[in-house]
Amino acid sequence: MSHTSTRHFLTLLDLSPKELGYLIQRAVELKTMQHTGQFHEPLRGQTLGMIFEKSSTRTRVSFEVAMTQFGGASIFLSTRDTQLGRGEPVEDSARVLSRMVDAVMIRTFDHAVVEAFAQYSRVPVINALTDQFHPCQLLADMQTFVEHRGSIQGRKVAWVGDGNNMCASYINAARQFDFELLIACPDGFEPPADLVAGDSDRVTLVRDPRAAVEGAHLVVTDVWASMGQEEEQAERIRKFTDYQVNPALMDLADPEALFMHCLPAHRGEEVSTEMMDDPRSVVWDEAENRLHAQKALLEFLLAGQH
Ligand code: CP
Ligand code: NVA
Repeated sequence: MSHTSTRHFLTLLDLSPKELGYLIQRAVELKTMQHTGQFHEPLRGQTLGMIFEKSSTRTRVSFEVAMTQFGGASIFLSTRDTQLGRGEPVEDSARVLSRMVDAVMIRTFDHAVVEAFAQYSRVPVINALTDQFHPCQLLADMQTFVEHRGSIQGRKVAWVGDGNNMCASYINAARQFDFELLIACPDGFEPPADLVAGDSDRVTLVRDPRAAVEGAHLVVTDVWASMGQEEEQAERIRKFTDYQVNPALMDLADPEALFMHCLPAHRGEEVSTEMMDDPRSVVWDEAENRLHAQKALLEFLLAGQH
């Protein structure tokens, strides 16, 4: 029972490159409007349900604040307190919740859960991170690049570290935003082979972080152990030691290169303390842009293009 006319945002591939371009430009506009105190309440009376099976600071706060600024409301639903956490099927929860709220945001483990939820939902479903993808973060990252350096089309991006959910969304972004992506990860920590193969014209795997970063316009990393991999932390620290992004590694990149990290960061592991505060780091703008990019996404899904 899928609602074919309802748009979802489970990965970056759910929107066309043109629609994604619109979202980024709209996010920049919405940011200016908010910074200059202009009220814009296109979602008055609308409610976002927010299902969290994993921890969050940025995602929760940015979605809640987005709905508040848009004149709507949000409901935080932890699986610890809802019937979802006691085994009520995802399909049933989707049918019930989507008769009450206007959109649903989900952060969970298995990507199949957001897909099942979307299939049975009458309202748009937004992936707020699964083990496989983190598309909302990519909207913020692309906005941040555009604001600092203009179009990312044709640029070279280096991913250094784990082939995780963020890396997978960068592979999707390479296709949708048309850039070259070099991924440097240790043996055994590559992103899914089918994803890389699907975009082999623009995505290249290398072992040496220096080879990936050389001449790059954007260098990105993320934690070595993601949520759910806590027991692998010690082993991963051993295997990833050569994959830290620090000023010396950044010096191999283009002189105008930017550094991004979705946060939270583990200083001294995937990123050095100095790198976080380096002039090339835009991690705080990137974090703020979660708010503006998701406002553009919510407005697009619930109120159409402006
Ligand atoms: N970057 C990100 O998604 O952060 P949170 O886990 O704090 O939401
Ligand atoms: N890869 C990280 C991203 C956190 C925002 C994780 O999944 O924990």
